[in-house]
Amino acid sequence: MSKKFCIGILGGGQLAKMSTQAAVRLGFDVVILEKEKNSPAGMLTHNEFTGWVDDDKLLKQFAHRCDVITLENEFVDHHRLEILEGLGKKVFPSSTTIALIQDKLLQKETLAQNRIPVPRFVAVEKYHSFNEIASILGKPFVLKSRKMGYDGYGNALVKNEKEYTAGVERLSYRHSNLMAESFIHFSMELAVMVARTKNEIKIYPVVQTIQKNHICHTVIAPAKISKQLKKDCEEIAVESVKAVHGFGLFGIEMFLSDDESIIVNEMAPRPHNSGHYTIEGCVTSQFENHIRAVMGLPLGSTSMVNKAAVMINLLGKQHPQKTIDAYRTALDYPNVHLHIYGKAASRAGRKMGHITIVGDDAKKILKQANGVEKKIRL
Ligand SMILES: Nc1ncnc2c1ncn2[C@@H]1O[C@H](COP(=O)(O)OP(=O)(O)O)[C@@H](O)[C@H]1O
Ligand SMILES: [Mg+2]
Repeated sequence: MSKKFCIGILGGGQLAKMSTQAAVRLGFDVVILEKEKNSPAGMLTHNEFTGWVDDDKLLKQFAHRCDVITLENEFVDHHRLEILEGLGKKVFPSSTTIALIQDKLLQKETLAQNRIPVPRFVAVEKYHSFNEIASILGKPFVLKSRKMGYDGYGNALVKNEKEYTAGVERLSYRHSNLMAESFIHFSMELAVMVARTKNEIKIYPVVQTIQKNHICHTVIAPAKISKQLKKDCEEIAVESVKAVHGFGLFGIEMFLSDDESIIVNEMAPRPHNSGHYTIEGCVTSQFENHIRAVMGLPLGSTSMVNKAAVMINLLGKQHPQKTIDAYRTALDYPNVHLHIYGKAASRAGRKMGHITIVGDDAKKILKQANGVEKKIRL
């Protein structure tokens, strides 16, 4: 019997888990590298390496098992990906793409150089005062950790000197380099997923995302925007992927500003929370197209299977119970798709799972999804 083709994933959280499910369905083997044992993705495969990319020996052992390597977040130092490439392994997205994305300042510079609209931004150095930054960006502005930020943990909204000092202190602790950008007054946040191989580009519908406490909470597909805005979003998303020489799957987050222009917030070189609805809402899920793109296979259709889909994240509410009782109530509704990631512990705000409803009336399924979410205790 011939050996199965093996896809390595750096990271073992829910994104890796859902990509693994898609890979296994297509007949591939998956190898997971994650810091701790029994990660959500690791539990699905018999190929789980425990440790991280900074361990040379482990990285080589992992690489040896993989035919192609991908990742579930942009926090892997691009130099470590270069080592994998140096071993002759194909890595998607490449170390070059990750280098351009993982530093939010470099990402914004790259997008701006390619004439993609982004908020005004500056690098923040320790000696910069609040007034110096405010004179360039206006007030308020958003202070951001250049690396390792997610779910808003790397951000601080700054309106005055005091908040600036506190923000610099808190965020520097997270990562030493900071940037700041102007605060965008937006009417809506939007996101677009793009899959790209050497041969083709496929774009998913433009969706609306609603953040609560800087964490994605609700996704409504498709976004209720004009045809022209939809076209603008699609063009900007594709140009963003090209700007970082991206091949694989990408999520592009955007603001629809109060003056009706599209401004890119940030991009992710991987499956994205705003694309979870595609599992049931589209002909081909973002996870399957992630695997197809990484493997250089033909991409599947990104069309929706019905008029609308709504996804709501199930965030930890600090109820430690993990039994079926915690989410049984979602199963009382036959049209609700429930996804539980299988994380060992819940904590307030942690992404524990999500629900998706597909239907022909966006308003109706949004109301239903909100009602179901309220009843779930995770
Ligand atoms: N320049 C900005 N203007 C207004 N809101 C912002 C800005 N930057 C970020 N935000 C808000 O904070 C959320 C999280 O910020 P983001 O930069 O996407 O960080 P993360 O990497 O944590 O997702 C955004 O989805 C948006 O709601
Ligand atoms: Mg974001």
